[in-house]
Amino acid sequence: MKEHASNYKIGIIGLGYVGLPLAELFLEKGNTVYGIDTDERKINMLNKRQSYLSDYKKNEIRNLFSKNSFHVGTTFNVIEKVDVIIICVPTPLDDHDQPDLKYVIGAAQNLLPHLRRGQLIVLESSTYPGTCEELLKPILESTGLLVGREISLAYSPERIDPGSKWELEHIPKVVGGVTPSCTSYAKEVYEAVFKRMVVVSSPRVAEMTKLLENSQRYLNISFMNSLLKICEELDISLWEVIEAAGTKPYGFTKYYPGPGVGGHCIPVDPLYLLWKSREHHIDLPFIELCRQVNEDMPSLIVERVAKTLRPKELNECNVLVIGVTYKKDVNDMRESIALHIIEQLLESGVKVDYFDPYVNELKIGETVLHAVPLTARNMRNIDCTLILTDHSNIPYELFVKHTPVVIDTRNATSKVADRKNVILL
Ligand SMILES: NC(=O)c1ccc[n+]([C@@H]2O[C@H](COP(=O)([O-])OP(=O)(O)OC[C@H]3O[C@@H](n4cnc5c(N)ncnc54)[C@H](O)[C@@H]3O)[C@@H](O)[C@H]2O)c1
Repeated sequence: MKEHASNYKIGIIGLGYVGLPLAELFLEKGNTVYGIDTDERKINMLNKRQSYLSDYKKNEIRNLFSKNSFHVGTTFNVIEKVDVIIICVPTPLDDHDQPDLKYVIGAAQNLLPHLRRGQLIVLESSTYPGTCEELLKPILESTGLLVGREISLAYSPERIDPGSKWELEHIPKVVGGVTPSCTSYAKEVYEAVFKRMVVVSSPRVAEMTKLLENSQRYLNISFMNSLLKICEELDISLWEVIEAAGTKPYGFTKYYPGPGVGGHCIPVDPLYLLWKSREHHIDLPFIELCRQVNEDMPSLIVERVAKTLRPKELNECNVLVIGVTYKKDVNDMRESIALHIIEQLLESGVKVDYFDPYVNELKIGETVLHAVPLTARNMRNIDCTLILTDHSNIPYELFVKHTPVVIDTRNATSKVADRKNVILL
């Protein structure tokens, strides 16, 4: 195998929420990056120095290109030039809630004509244990280049948290290669840009690490959501309980309830694990339970709206929904629970308005909604404000002041001085 470079030529496949920040990090540390995305719209926007991600402003996109070491396109022929190929494509579920690896397979197949000796391929997409060794390795080896001999293959889970304060380089980087030489090559590349490396014994361990992290979160948030009903029945604020319990200096970690778990990761990854377990005839009842809790959340929220607005019927009510993305401060709508809640409200005959600084238009079935400007006038006929996503920089005091009742599923109104008309879910 060839001696590894110190300044690498990196090919990043998939320039989304994961791939673009990773490209930025490698660029910042003096590497050359070839970014490939099959979505022409994204490549065109990058070429016009425009942003499609909420974490990037226009000038930040411009900065990515400032050293002439970032090259983007939709075709794979540049792969011949690179030392390292990092795959960051989506790993969604199919219609039967099973892993849909068509993007990973597609990306691997696109690479084949351009692969050459000495290259390292790393999968970063979240996936079930075994993907690298059972799925990716045979595809790559169909070229005749053997993993651990002519080429290297590793898995390194992406742990970025879009919309948060965490800087990518400070998030410890887990890697596991198919062979010891694959691991050491992957470690060498990533430690050139990440502050701390965590080397594990195999890709399977690294794949499982990611699923454990996200499943733990799924379980804990779902558990909190499952406590909402009993707390309401007992006239207890779960939020107050969590804050009190969080003062225990050991053995308790705070997780918060919400309108339901959304996004491309937390509700998806545990089902990858469930699928793999079933393949081995092993049950994972915790994950099944969480899925049930999550699926029940939209009805629970709509029931709460109905109860709050009684004696008015839902079909006589105007509800203003605040926040529709799956979490705060991102423009990501994937698996957003808000879509299901709004759909149920519309089906019940509610007149729904919404506001979200990141989403101008929303299509739910045949209905198209447009974000309304936040003015006192627009709130005049609103019966209830329903906060589903707690974006920063939203004037929450406005709804508390101008709408009769606010149902707050995120404790977004915690800093509003007088919130007698706020119902915390
Ligand atoms: N978004 C997150 O917060 C996050 C965090 C950690 C891990 N992950 C994982 O990282 C992976 C990517 O997630 P994301 O949020 O960046 O998705 P994304 O949809 O934002 O980006 C993926 C990109 O890959 C492109 N793509 C699809 N097939 C391709 C192909 N064959 N060749 C080139 N490009 C292709 C898509 O056009 C898209 O732009 C997923 O497995 C996800 O679970 C995501």
